[in-house]
Amino acid sequence: MKALVLIGGFGTRLRPVTYTVPKQLIPIAGKPMLYHVFDLFPPELEEVVLATGYKADQIAEYVRTHPGRWPIRTVPEAEPLGTGGGMKNAGDGMSDPFLLFNSDVIASVDVDAMVREHLRHGGVGSMALFEVEDVRPYGVADLTPEDRIIRFVEKPEPEAAPSHWINAGIALWSRRVLDGIPPGRAVSFEREIVPGLLAEGVYGFRLRGYWDDAGSPDRLLNAQRLLFDAGRGGKGGVPAGAFGSGPVAVMPGARAPGASFGKYVTLGPGATVEAGAHVENSILMDGVHVERGATISNSLLGPKVRVRSGHRVAAQVVGEGVEV
Ligand code: GTP
Repeated sequence: MKALVLIGGFGTRLRPVTYTVPKQLIPIAGKPMLYHVFDLFPPELEEVVLATGYKADQIAEYVRTHPGRWPIRTVPEAEPLGTGGGMKNAGDGMSDPFLLFNSDVIASVDVDAMVREHLRHGGVGSMALFEVEDVRPYGVADLTPEDRIIRFVEKPEPEAAPSHWINAGIALWSRRVLDGIPPGRAVSFEREIVPGLLAEGVYGFRLRGYWDDAGSPDRLLNAQRLLFDAGRGGKGGVPAGAFGSGPVAVMPGARAPGASFGKYVTLGPGATVEAGAHVENSILMDGVHVERGATISNSLLGPKVRVRSGHRVAAQVVGEGVEV
């Protein structure tokens, strides 16, 4: 089986960091978001195809220098084609069925069980669903007791929502769904294509455990917390010579002797936190430098950000190279 990953979006909610870095390469709990998605794949995949667009060259270079367990091929779009257009553009030679993943899903999912259920139902597709309280930002599934999806309602008001089960951004589709996507133009798979497929049998696969889409600053930090709590953030603790609780994921070359740490921190490659500084619930990307006595909380600091001595950064997203 092959997997197709949609990775062409602009990541607007994580600007200004995503002006220079595609969101899928932002490290969470010690590795890029995209590689946490890779961790969900069955080991015996034949190929992973990345439908890229925004910052396609950076993504291609990163996966070339950080190979996965399977061959990875990137297929860039000259212009944004949306989710359906991206599938069409990158879909040549897909397996039947194939896996479809958004590039920002952090989840516990048993893909083998999902494949078994998909084959048992015999429909054209199976979409992973996750139960949330606030359905407003999502596509919400209307399901029969047998888990057949009979309707999708995009971004409903709570009173109009047919359930609390939302599209989790993980699915299995028959290869022939690609034939129904018009070529050469932007297409939203969820809005333009999926409604027409429901009559052919699309089933919901209810996820238990944890899930988040790491697309906004709050959700990114929540996803990091989920990963650490699930034991997917490395060995935990704090960096050599540092104090506090952690867990801190220390990437190569990062150092923080004499600094203190609260919960849930990633120190990107080469990041430095000086003695007497404090960091909690944050992501510091490559080359960030936090000077003595500064405090960072609930924040995403882009590459090479410098935080001056004694400054306090709380609930901020700071773009590459900025001094605060
Ligand atoms: P925001 O701009 O912050 O909403 O983030 P986003 O650009 O990632 O959009 P969204 O989270 O809605 O996208 C869902 C998934 O589809 C993500 O994995 C995106 O990378 C991907 N995606 C969105 N638009 C395109 C596109 O035009 N082409 C491709 N190939 N993928 C896309």
